[in-house]
Amino acid sequence: MKDKFHLKIISGTANRKLAEEVSRVMKVPLTPVEIKRFSDGEIYCRVLESVRGCDVYIIQPTSSDASLNLMQLLVMVDALKRSSPERVTAVIPYFGYARQDKKTKAREPITAKLVANMIQVAGVDRVIMFDLHVAQVQGFFDIPSDNLDMIPQFAEYILSKKLGEIVMVSPDAGGAARARTFAKVLNAPIAIIDKRRPEPNVAQVENVIGDVKGRTAVIVDDIIDTAGSITEAAKILVEHGAKEVYALATHGVLSGQSVERIAKSHLKEVIITNTIEIPKEKLMPKFRVLSVGPLLAEDIRRTHEGLPMGVVYEEMYRKLEKKVKK
Ligand code: R5P
Repeated sequence: MKDKFHLKIISGTANRKLAEEVSRVMKVPLTPVEIKRFSDGEIYCRVLESVRGCDVYIIQPTSSDASLNLMQLLVMVDALKRSSPERVTAVIPYFGYARQDKKTKAREPITAKLVANMIQVAGVDRVIMFDLHVAQVQGFFDIPSDNLDMIPQFAEYILSKKLGEIVMVSPDAGGAARARTFAKVLNAPIAIIDKRRPEPNVAQVENVIGDVKGRTAVIVDDIIDTAGSITEAAKILVEHGAKEVYALATHGVLSGQSVERIAKSHLKEVIITNTIEIPKEKLMPKFRVLSVGPLLAEDIRRTHEGLPMGVVYEEMYRKLEKKVKK
């Protein structure tokens, strides 16, 4: 790899396993960093190696505890920026607060924008993220950003299951574009669930738009949080005659009773990624976790070497298309 010695990867504490995987794939050791909490909860951080003139990548999803992990990221960026690196890239595989991207009622904040401001003010030169809740959140940053996705890997996995006649399902109107992309890639029809949110974290499912009868339904979402959306969707899909129901989502937030809910649901399998580190006790047999590590490593390598990433996706889609046609 060109200029390997000037590339540094640093991990926060939010998803060390993913950072270790990226480090293994890239054959670049993690730069040691000391991260501690004072007894009052304040965060302390010191980078234990010189980063002068280096191209530094900090891997830190702002998953639960979102505010704490965000603050840790900011403190790490500050420690780095005072140590003369060439460039600092924040790799935020899961961007917490992304769902607060607009005002829906008077006197509400747009917290996703606030978080983007904070990251920029801290001195980050570039951000790498995965499957943002809505792609427009990229526009909250005035620095270069990558919004990677795992569509080819998910699609490949679904193909490998040989599910027969499938229908891609969006659990709400907001996710229709995502489901449509999958449907196009897999040459399948789509259906949309009419979901309402009477209050935050409560999913009320009203109807299914589209024909799911006799097909295997694959629900596509960005986040599984309380799992209300996917379990309620699975229920109504079965009521409308779906043969089996699978769900896939990039980010396994898995809060509250989500795991128990999935266990008791009609869902046959739930496919997620490791943008968020999932504790072992939550990983029940219904889950299948795909790793974002290799793709992230490739993006970091290409960013470091000033190479485009679009060609990687083009190649993945070309291969996929051949498999779908078979
Ligand atoms: C909502 O717009 C998102 O795309 C997800 O559908 C939502 O965050 C999932 O949340 P939950 O699992 O709590 O229903």
